Amino acid sequence: MVIIGANAWFWYSLNQSKFVLLAPVLTILRGLAFFTIKKKHPRGWLLQPKWHTMKNHKEYNFKYTEISTITELSDEEQNLVNQSLEALKTSYSPYSKFKVGAAALLENGEVILGSNQENGAYPSGLCAERVALFYAGAKYPGVPVKCLAVSACFEGEQTKSPVSPCGACRQVMIETQHIGKKPMRIILTGSEKSIVIENSAFLLPFNFVNTDKIFE
Ligand code: THU
Repeated sequence: MVIIGANAWFWYSLNQSKFVLLAPVLTILRGLAFFTIKKKHPRGWLLQPKWHTMKNHKEYNFKYTEISTITELSDEEQNLVNQSLEALKTSYSPYSKFKVGAAALLENGEVILGSNQENGAYPSGLCAERVALFYAGAKYPGVPVKCLAVSACFEGEQTKSPVSPCGACRQVMIETQHIGKKPMRIILTGSEKSIVIENSAFLLPFNFVNTDKIFE
């Protein structure tokens, strides 16, 4: 409606004015301006509040590795992935029937397994990643987690695509990494494709930190 109205007004005022002969030129200029703005603001320039004065745009990118077979990983990490598959057996998921297994490799060489544990009061359940990381924290407080492998299984078969952790698990991964003071590698596995992320913090920009130092 706004665009139709603006067009009608544009043509009417042009026809009324002595600049009517400039109509084609003005139309081309207006089109060019519109497309330039549209390209810069694909979500629509009307939605961009004060876009013309907001110069300090920032971008967030991160690198990760996609692998088609876990044989591309080190022996230690292949073993960790296999242990996450093993952990699927302990999943208690009668409601979703979606099993998730997690294996955390600690710096002291220990491997801690976790699986999703559901509950009839749905929100009371917990994801595999958090079961593993909280268990690791309870058993070996302060010991850094070097790597966390996650696998999932639905209807008896491992998922083809890598399982993607929920936001709450990402938040917990980041704080676990913060406590350990070392980057935690995350391996998200699927039978046809897996993903390796070098630092768990990549997974949750603007994660919650319990201080006012987030932007330092
Ligand atoms: N789940 C996990 O354990 N980890 C994830 O990364 C995603 C989801 C669980 C929660 C619930 O028991 C089931 O998968 C289906 O949502």
